[in-house]
Amino acid sequence: MLSPAITEALTAAAVTKRFGGLVAVDNMSFKLAEREVLGLIGPNGSGKTTMMNLISGALKPTSGEISVYGEAVTGRGASNVARKGIARTFQLVRMLPTMTALENVAAGGVFGHARRWGKELDDYAHALLERVGLPNAASAPISALTYIDQKRVELARALASDPKILLLDEWLAGLNPTELEIGITLIERLRSEGCTIIIVEHVMHAIRSLCDRCIVMNSGAKIAEGTPAEVLADHGVIRAYLGDENA
Ligand SMILES: Nc1ncnc2c1ncn2[C@@H]1O[C@H](COP(=O)(O)OP(=O)(O)OP(=O)(O)O)[C@@H](O)[C@H]1O
Ligand SMILES: [Mg+2]
Repeated sequence: MLSPAITEALTAAAVTKRFGGLVAVDNMSFKLAEREVLGLIGPNGSGKTTMMNLISGALKPTSGEISVYGEAVTGRGASNVARKGIARTFQLVRMLPTMTALENVAAGGVFGHARRWGKELDDYAHALLERVGLPNAASAPISALTYIDQKRVELARALASDPKILLLDEWLAGLNPTELEIGITLIERLRSEGCTIIIVEHVMHAIRSLCDRCIVMNSGAKIAEGTPAEVLADHGVIRAYLGDENA
């Protein structure tokens, strides 16, 4: 049987980001297929979050091109890129603490790719809270929720715009072992629903179980690409991690 044609969701072509003399992202080129789950891994400070910021439009590359479904989005700005269908979570939970879970999720539906208003938005936000396992938390203020539940709300908020590409930057960080399994199961579900995802993560067993493919960064540059098993057995990758005092 012929395999279905691969649709390219995202392309990064020779993307570089300099901060003064520091090259945080160094000539990164890669592709992400629709429905693919791509892991972006590497030691602390290797440029993963900067790469995510470049994709989401929070930062403008010094050089290189980023395109989403064949359309160049380089330097378009975060709200523009969000409208092209890219949604993200942040390395540190960023939410509106005095607002309710429902309001936080609904906020994600206002700025993104699929826009909803009023009752439609409200109903959709309720459905998303259920989808992430929080059916009864709609009216709870964020500050009253446990950490894993705040993470669930953050994920629901990112999903509220029906993103074409979801960027998860260490979404699993800080969870205890029980919560971690809950978190992995939630992402597994998104994966089985056909979401296209880039995951930045230090939790390697999550990378192994969730990702189709991995790109490894070190000092801003790509040092390996392949299946999780391939890259995690790569000598250069092992050296990059062991050479880093925080890894
Ligand atoms: N706004 C900025 N201005 C100057 N330097 C920055 C800025 N953002 C990141 N950097 C630097 O760029 C490099 C890459 O940082 P980045 O946050 O992308 O790494 P990371 O791979 O996400 O690390 P971690 O695993 O610790 O989250 C680091 O040396 C960092 O100090
Ligand atoms: Mg980071």
